[in-house]
Amino acid sequence: MIKTDLLHHESVPVPCPAKFQDTWDDVHVKMPCSNKSLFPVIDEDTQEQQNKSRWELIKETLNKKFTSAYELKKALLNYNASNAKKWDFTALSSYCSKVLEPDAAEHLFNSLLPDMVQLAVRASELCTKPIPLLKRGMNHSITMSQEQAACLLANAFFCTFPRRNSRKAEYSNFPDINFFRLFEGSSPKKIEKLKTLMCYFKSVTEQKPTGLVTFTRKVLDKSPVWKSSQTQLTKLHITCDGTIEDDGSGMLQVDFANKFVGGGVTSSGLVQEEIRFLINPELIVSRLFTEALDDNECLIITGTQQFSKYTGYSQTYQWDGSHQDTTPKDGWQRRCTEIVAIDALQFRNFLEQFHPDKITRELNKAYCGFSRLETDSENLAAVATGNWGCGVFGGDTRLKALLQMLAAAEAGRDVAYFTFGDSRLMTDVNNMHSFLTKRNISVGEVYDLPGPVLQLRV
Ligand code: APR
Repeated sequence: MIKTDLLHHESVPVPCPAKFQDTWDDVHVKMPCSNKSLFPVIDEDTQEQQNKSRWELIKETLNKKFTSAYELKKALLNYNASNAKKWDFTALSSYCSKVLEPDAAEHLFNSLLPDMVQLAVRASELCTKPIPLLKRGMNHSITMSQEQAACLLANAFFCTFPRRNSRKAEYSNFPDINFFRLFEGSSPKKIEKLKTLMCYFKSVTEQKPTGLVTFTRKVLDKSPVWKSSQTQLTKLHITCDGTIEDDGSGMLQVDFANKFVGGGVTSSGLVQEEIRFLINPELIVSRLFTEALDDNECLIITGTQQFSKYTGYSQTYQWDGSHQDTTPKDGWQRRCTEIVAIDALQFRNFLEQFHPDKITRELNKAYCGFSRLETDSENLAAVATGNWGCGVFGGDTRLKALLQMLAAAEAGRDVAYFTFGDSRLMTDVNNMHSFLTKRNISVGEVYDLPGPVLQLRV
């Protein structure tokens, strides 16, 4: 989406093409600034229905100053009229009127929100190239500047994306992108989410970021023949301290995803994936164009920046100030942070996960996320992972640790495993790894263990 010949480490990348290319079809993102985005009005004189440009209405509405959450709510509903009864702005109102100190509230309405509006309304100037939808079965990458990502996120905040407010019809198999769910309800979690995202918007409007971000949808065309694999396990570093994002720098960092990438980041979820999407908000842009992941697919996002720190987890999550991301950049001006979204299966019946077809699905999903066939394995960083699929999704930690070690081995990568405080798990997984490596037991031999034996082993 940018001119690659003008990339320079401290200048803001230039959008390409120079002029907005308006597309309105089912293989590209329907942009709010498209002149195909229309809304019907009845002409007062002739009483005839006319179609007006929704983008003109959006710009006219947002360029008016708002001095309260109520006025912001009215503005958003002005071009989302059909949702007037459905959308609830309790969290936004509470954030603006109760949470923020008076001077912070004043800064929000006099400075930050107007800056975000200016960022959003430049969509046709910044995002000139049609953005392809990363649909199921597509191997495709999108690279954009952090500035373009910020423009898209500002539009998501102001809920401008057309056709994205109901899970009916054409976008039913895509995640939400407009932030209306973020503004609703009275949960303190929403307030902490708003603090985290406003920290991002403050940072990118005060100083334009100069990097790039790449979103790659990857389809595993050919699964390994697990049964006959002679591959030996790779090295394991396991610890009950630290987190993937803090201690996995330089490694392939796993996002314990939902098939709708980002999960409940703009609604009520607040566990590993949502937290990562909040502190690295450029990840949220993937929700604009990534269709739900299939069993043999993953999404790889390279280059996102961490803008916030946090404490706690889930109910105790709290924004903890801005974060200065010092991760070095690669030759494409992308931070060397590679995150892979892989969605585990959700198990309601504990034993179900030991069925061979479930084992195979999880192995293939992890392998899809970990393998890079175009790269020699000695150049592949370790996988930084943890209890993938073992929280909300109810998986067994020891089984999932074993499956990820097998998949990483098959992909030629070592494993850095963070047990998230579980020291017993650290010991058990380490013993399991030692048991298998001392006896040179191959991936195929482990895979071939009958379900009940595997269940006993783990
Ligand atoms: N680093 C390492 N390990 C972590 C971290 C972290 N930052 N955060 C959490 N964990 C560990 C915890 O032990 C947690 O219970 O990972 C476990 C699994 O985390 P979940 O987020 O519950 O992952 P999962 O079970 O795969 O559920 C995925 O939750 O976040 C949503 O959108 C996501 O719908 C999807 C579901």
